[in-house]
Amino acid sequence: MNILLVGSGGREHALAWKIAQSPQLSRLVAAPGNPGIERLCEVRAVSATDVAGLLALAQEIAADLVVVGPEVSVAAGLADALQAASIPCFGPTAAAGQLESSKAFTKAFCDRYGLPTGAYQVCETLGEAKAALDLFAAPYVVKADGLAAGKGVVIAATREEAEAAVEDALGGRFGAAGARVVIEEFLEGEIGSLFALCDGATSMLFGWAQDHKRAFDGEQGPNTGGMGVYSPAPVFTPQLVEQVRTRLVEPAFAGIAADGAPYRGVLFVELMATRDGPKLVEFNVRFGDPECQALMLRLESDLAPYLLACATGRLAEMPPPQWRDEAAICVVMAAKGYPGTPRAGGEIRGAEDDLGEGVVVFQAGTTRDAKGALRAAGGRVLNVCATGPTLQAARDRAYRAIGKIDFPDGFCRSDIGWRALQRELG
Ligand code: GLY
Repeated sequence: MNILLVGSGGREHALAWKIAQSPQLSRLVAAPGNPGIERLCEVRAVSATDVAGLLALAQEIAADLVVVGPEVSVAAGLADALQAASIPCFGPTAAAGQLESSKAFTKAFCDRYGLPTGAYQVCETLGEAKAALDLFAAPYVVKADGLAAGKGVVIAATREEAEAAVEDALGGRFGAAGARVVIEEFLEGEIGSLFALCDGATSMLFGWAQDHKRAFDGEQGPNTGGMGVYSPAPVFTPQLVEQVRTRLVEPAFAGIAADGAPYRGVLFVELMATRDGPKLVEFNVRFGDPECQALMLRLESDLAPYLLACATGRLAEMPPPQWRDEAAICVVMAAKGYPGTPRAGGEIRGAEDDLGEGVVVFQAGTTRDAKGALRAAGGRVLNVCATGPTLQAARDRAYRAIGKIDFPDGFCRSDIGWRALQRELG
């Protein structure tokens, strides 16, 4: 199978790592890739939003499958263009991708099809937003409507912070993505990330994990795209998984198909496990980052046939995925300043060495300089992942590996996995 993988982050490094192990693989090309992906396969300098360039590349390499990593490619209409050229694509059309590219669309979708989620108001002016904030109590949740690279969500402790977040978004901090804001109820509970595949008709659960969204230890600091993750996550009891499947996953796939946009790819359900059952926090139309990194380490089955089955309408032929009976953890090393303006160019030493049993480092925001040294080139820079017989063992391995990486301009949280470990302690 010839596969074109689109994207350049830690998620795509993890997907490349897993796809490269497939016995069905003939050729893997990534675009635009990153220095870590480059160690695994051929990369081409075509941007993830250059739909015409990616289509031409898929044709040039006679791709049997294009795997879409990031949401920006979905929103750019890559799957639509590939579909028109009869090239199988793992990733939804732009219409189905509205489940991520517009939070207002998704809230209305939930209303239309009865999916449980928090109360909300969509606002286009500061006046509307102030009136909406009157309807809620602190902490306030303010979200830019469109794609904002994981930075468009503010959980504001005070009314002043909430109004500042609204002004920021409406004032253009996220460009057109912030032209509307969604103000919504703060949901109390434990957060969870669940993944489901769909081929347009058949769906299948594909793992779950728990992410840490805040920048600093103890769930403090600003919201981020995710500072670390682990799987399995004990919050996902069999009962919760079943509730998510029947109340969120299946109605979402049925609803989007009824809207005329059958879903092909992976749906990432970010949910709050509340006292009243799971409620949708948001949908994402691609694998979670860094959830994907931990899941790929635990996935025993060959990934490529599942991706192809989604793209070709043959998911019903696939058995449920097999997971290693091990825990996996991913600790994000970010550049100082993230999620604000990250310090660029900091040198990283040791990240490409053998860092011990069960440890794999995925590169998320790196570049290689003319002398071959690895440097930071993004907010989230490295994903230090490890597996182990228990979460504690996996975590010890990951933090030992971090101790061997020299990245003075970086930081990470030191408490990834605390909820599950606290449960283990009893
Ligand atoms: N970790 C959450 C996300 O991928 O947006």
